Amino acid sequence: MNNQFEKRSDFVVVANRLSVDRVVADDGSETWRTSPGGLVTALEPVMQSRRGSAWVGWPGSPDEELEPFVHDGIQLVPVSLSAQDVTEYYEGFSNATLWPLFHDGVAFPEYHREWWDAYVRVNRRFAEAAAAVAAEGAQVWVQDYQLLLVPRMLRTLRPDLYIGFFLHIPFPPMELFVQLPWRAEILDGLLGSDLVGFQIAGGASNFIHLVSERLGYPTGDDTVTLPDGRVCAARAYPISIPTQRFADLAADPAVQERAREIRAELDDPELLFLGVDRLDYTKGIKHRLRAFGELVTSGQLDPDRAAFLQVATPSRERVEEYKMLRDEIDRIVGRINGSVGRIGRQPVTYLHTHYPREEMVAMYSAADVMVVSPLRDGMNLVAKEYIACRRNGDGALVLSEFTGAADELSEWTYSINPYDINGMKATMLRAATDAPEERQRRMAALREQVFTHDIDRWAESFLADMG
Ligand code: ADP
Ligand code: G6P
Repeated sequence: MNNQFEKRSDFVVVANRLSVDRVVADDGSETWRTSPGGLVTALEPVMQSRRGSAWVGWPGSPDEELEPFVHDGIQLVPVSLSAQDVTEYYEGFSNATLWPLFHDGVAFPEYHREWWDAYVRVNRRFAEAAAAVAAEGAQVWVQDYQLLLVPRMLRTLRPDLYIGFFLHIPFPPMELFVQLPWRAEILDGLLGSDLVGFQIAGGASNFIHLVSERLGYPTGDDTVTLPDGRVCAARAYPISIPTQRFADLAADPAVQERAREIRAELDDPELLFLGVDRLDYTKGIKHRLRAFGELVTSGQLDPDRAAFLQVATPSRERVEEYKMLRDEIDRIVGRINGSVGRIGRQPVTYLHTHYPREEMVAMYSAADVMVVSPLRDGMNLVAKEYIACRRNGDGALVLSEFTGAADELSEWTYSINPYDINGMKATMLRAATDAPEERQRRMAALREQVFTHDIDRWAESFLADMG
């Protein structure tokens, strides 16, 4: 890392988080660690390949006043959040109002006026930081639900810019969106963009429909004409991963050795299921563990031969719903292991930790069946990472139909409705026992899709359309 900050940038990404979090050890020493979540996995390689571009975002802890600096070839421009901003804007409006509302209301969204005030205040701070760093006529690409107001604020400050917005999470149907007391302000915020991107076509059409019904602006199939004559386009751009990077890591002999070790450390199960998520109630972790638990307690799967490895990165730990989820998962895992485990053999291994990429790839390489069971998910990159790592063309992907990834992949995955536990059990069994040729056939098609639709293609198509 160095602290030389170059001139203003022609390409600027604005996201709630920077690509790295500042971690201060007990002895006061400082390191930077890749920030959690799919947004950073996807955008980091995009930024690394565009030299001189800037990333505006929060360094992950309250009250940090940091100067811009360069890390891994990306110019990072920190935006400071106070402890109150973190509580009201990040944990509050972003993650206890918008996150549950936009994910089908699977948890109850809370509406508080002081959270909204903080959201407006912090969005303005991000818009001002982006306005200060963008060169004349630059492309500025705003990311995700934490910053829905930034496009309009930025356009007011800098009408010379090309402004794009990409929503990484689902855009809800009108019936849910209209609960928001500030729905008109949020639509207007997004309409400050030249182009708004969604994960799937349904999100884009929900948005166009809402704007037409609620604001009365003229709309086409994928465009809105604003009162000043400007046109804002809204389309789907399914996000992806740096597929080849994952494949190269999976081919590394050290990672392959680690994959063998992982199986050995789990007492060499004949059948290894894997789940990898941020610890989030949208991911359906409870549902999949319940399904596996019933399979081993009923004897449909032999607990001496089958194992489930569940890895969950800690996430949003001060938000109430996340605390409750953590306790519930501890309980479910304890119950399964308590009832069918024996000394030296636990059917479920649950790890609540963040791991380096190499370790994640070793886990993907080790697992026979990957279970991705969100109740709702914008895309789900974990599903694509598993596919990228199956270099021998084996393995099976069980995938919830309520993910964005299912739009692209469900023809070849073992598709599930995570609310249907019996259906999920049957599909998990089928994924585990189908003929190897059938699993190979499916995996070949999945790999073709994920290798031809990688993150570079996603970024290029969005930026080409943005102008
Ligand atoms: P979300 O963005 O909602 O977290 P995604 O599946 O799209 O969901 O992306 C999750 C990202 O986080 C993936 O890149 C995955 O590899 C990474 N990840 C998930 N769990 C862990 C973990 N325990 N340690 C490190 N990285 C993780
Ligand atoms: C999802 C969201 C991202 C977010 C990430 C991690 O991927 O779409 O915007 O950054 O989760 O969540 P966190 O709250 O830790 O930033």
